[in-house]
Amino acid sequence: MRFAPIVDRLSNLGGAKWAVHARAKEMIAQGREVIKLSIGEPDVPPADALLAAAKAGIDAGRLGYSNGRGEPNLLAALAARYSARTGRSIAPSQCTALPGTQTTLYATLTTLVGPGDEVLLGDPCYATYEGLIAATGAQVVMVPLHAEHGFRMQAADVAPLITPRTRLLFLNTPHNPTGAILTEGDIRALGALAIQHDLWILSDEVYEEMIYVGARFVSPFDLAELADRTVVAASISKSHAAPGFRSGWCVGPQEFSDALLPVAETMLFGNQPFIADMTALAVSAPSAAARAMAQRFSRRAGLVQRMLHGKNGLVVHRPEAGMFALVNIAATGLTGEEFALGLLDAEGVAVMPGESFGHGLAGWLRLSLTVDDPLIETACTRIAAYAARAQGLAA
Ligand SMILES: Cc1ncc(COP(=O)(O)O)c(C=O)c1O
Repeated sequence: MRFAPIVDRLSNLGGAKWAVHARAKEMIAQGREVIKLSIGEPDVPPADALLAAAKAGIDAGRLGYSNGRGEPNLLAALAARYSARTGRSIAPSQCTALPGTQTTLYATLTTLVGPGDEVLLGDPCYATYEGLIAATGAQVVMVPLHAEHGFRMQAADVAPLITPRTRLLFLNTPHNPTGAILTEGDIRALGALAIQHDLWILSDEVYEEMIYVGARFVSPFDLAELADRTVVAASISKSHAAPGFRSGWCVGPQEFSDALLPVAETMLFGNQPFIADMTALAVSAPSAAARAMAQRFSRRAGLVQRMLHGKNGLVVHRPEAGMFALVNIAATGLTGEEFALGLLDAEGVAVMPGESFGHGLAGWLRLSLTVDDPLIETACTRIAAYAARAQGLAA
């Protein structure tokens, strides 16, 4: 039987990237002890108050269909949140509730681009982005993100890649996997290009609340000159440690929101009212859970840096936000994949090879910061030892 072209377009973008993580899970199932730094999930459960709000919604019978845009209480809470953040009046009808950032990105891209269009995307990037763009039939155009610029996308790297087919600039700030946060200057320069070439900006801000002390978050949506071309996507998955609830949203210009509505209705017809109740509560105040996670992850990023930076030729890139630290292992002469697979077998430490996130992280490893400090320390000791052995050095 024949399948649609989307199946071919997505066929090389899936599971292979997660080979190390899959092998780690196999080893654990066989009874081996593995320190799993390969995946980042919040390390706490959702707050009791949020679970109580979801349960109260269930008890109150909030179990029927919603509508294509989402429950009014959630849309009002989102409008209030983004009005306060931007200093402009954002209407509830500019917001759409969808099941998680991932679905939101899918619906947004489907609304904005299609075959024949080009989408500018930073390399490295979060593992699903290429698939999201490929699903629409649009072409991915990779913008290199350089370690010397802290992996922040630079307008000078974007400008030469713009063609008459370019339709959308895909941003992720704070960024997974690098933990980089675009500065206001970065965004204004990128935004000037978007205005000049009439591009949409899609900004995945799922880590907005997980920024470390001293860092400053700015969204293109907050800048008045970019407000009519920017769509923000986010969720409570990271900020409220609630990925399993699949509760996300987007906010953007009214014109976009109206164009999205039939797409959202066709895909889903709204999210679940009792989850909307929980999410409305979540987004109505800053997340204490996110602040505490950011403190823990920042401390652990510091631990990784102290233990590995400069050790046996390793270089640590310190994140400004999020759940991951990056370690450059190029000095060992191994690829990230070779190092990660070897490290897992020899030392029982599972990390992600940088290559899983794009060519720009070849020779890097991504370490999740979501396990306890002593485990991070043990993992770092083993990574340093493995790096030394790979180079024929004493550990
Ligand atoms: C950058 C980024 N965007 C989106 C997602 C998916 O988020 P959600 O659970 O809201 O679909 C993740 C999850 O790791 C992510 O890191």
